[in-house]
Amino acid sequence: MDLATDFFDDGSSFIAIDPLSINPEALMDFSLFERFPLKNGQYRFRCLLVDSRSIARDRLIELLGAWEIVYIHCNQNLNYAQYVKNNLEFILNHAAIDVKNKTGTLVNLATEVVQESFAANFASPKDCQRVIENIEKLISQAMNFISSIESLKGIADLIGHDYQTHTHSIKVGWLTATFINSNPDLFDVSSDAQLRDIMIQAAAAGFLHDIGKIKIPKSVINKKGKLDNLEYVIMQSHTAYATSLLFETQLPRSSMQTILYHHENEDGSGYPCGFSGDQIPLIAKVTHICDVFDALTSKRPYKEARSPFEALKIMAGENPYLETLQKFEAEVKENTKIPVITIVRDDYEAKLRRLREREMLEEAAEKRVEARIKLRDLGMSHCFDKDLLRRFILTINRSESFNLSRLL
Ligand SMILES: [Fe+2]
Ligand SMILES: [Fe+2]
Repeated sequence: MDLATDFFDDGSSFIAIDPLSINPEALMDFSLFERFPLKNGQYRFRCLLVDSRSIARDRLIELLGAWEIVYIHCNQNLNYAQYVKNNLEFILNHAAIDVKNKTGTLVNLATEVVQESFAANFASPKDCQRVIENIEKLISQAMNFISSIESLKGIADLIGHDYQTHTHSIKVGWLTATFINSNPDLFDVSSDAQLRDIMIQAAAAGFLHDIGKIKIPKSVINKKGKLDNLEYVIMQSHTAYATSLLFETQLPRSSMQTILYHHENEDGSGYPCGFSGDQIPLIAKVTHICDVFDALTSKRPYKEARSPFEALKIMAGENPYLETLQKFEAEVKENTKIPVITIVRDDYEAKLRRLREREMLEEAAEKRVEARIKLRDLGMSHCFDKDLLRRFILTINRSESFNLSRLL
């Protein structure tokens, strides 16, 4: 689409971009503008470059280094979005682009890809395959960045925001990749390429680990308060649903295992299988740590976000009431067998009586749920492999954005 070379505008038709994000080696089919302020909040936008065909490569490199900021007209947004998709690796690996910009670009693209996977038609094998390929392609382009300690600054900036399933999934995959890259001795690999494959599989699992939630009733997913026991068990089925949805795709088996077991606890009190210790695959254990860390540091309608320090203190803390907590967890499974809602007969007196009984049961159930959650937050060390949790703390503490030395 041909654009005019001069515009007078209040700025709303243009987006600002970092000129360093332009790859001089790639075809650029959008125009770059510079901006001059005028009176009354108006600007003049003057075209600097129509497209990359109209300039020699060396001259383009020179100009990109000289411009501080450039603008793109919104009519060419789609061309630019496609360009960013094709050049993500260039942008994320560019040493001069700051982590904040890289994080913004990555999160925008990754959110799109994760959203697409959550909206996919899993009855269509073609659709599923496309979703998996897009996720693997994006992760592969982003791997150098998301597995670097430098990128943890980007994660730190995202901490404390409202919990959103898509961003949560991205952060879990991202943290898992950084962890693996910083702890290669844990993995039986003989080359960087093998470690990279493991990181891609682990990050893909992170991006998809909660996809089974698309099968959970909206009333449970969107509930503002705490989940009661029945809802809690329904929610637990997201691990099995996810595996079932992905079962016939080309997603590696190791990623599928990670997704299935990402809620297993070290002491056997987790779900879906109640596995403990060595029964739980290593990457599932790492994903579990990243998952809980992100959940605790995100804001929910019913709770404030905890700081990384507070979250890890809870995660590493020995629970003084572990036995009682385990009883509560066991009771969740028991309670779902007994219908809390009693049958109401037509007889009026009996109806009143039974309604009261039901209220009492629900009251008691609610108190038990409260107690279970309160107790759990007193210490979660029984949920994690101690060495892995310590390594996780050491890994993120390598970034200046986290100050966790008091925990070590
Ligand atoms: Fe989950
Ligand atoms: Fe999760």
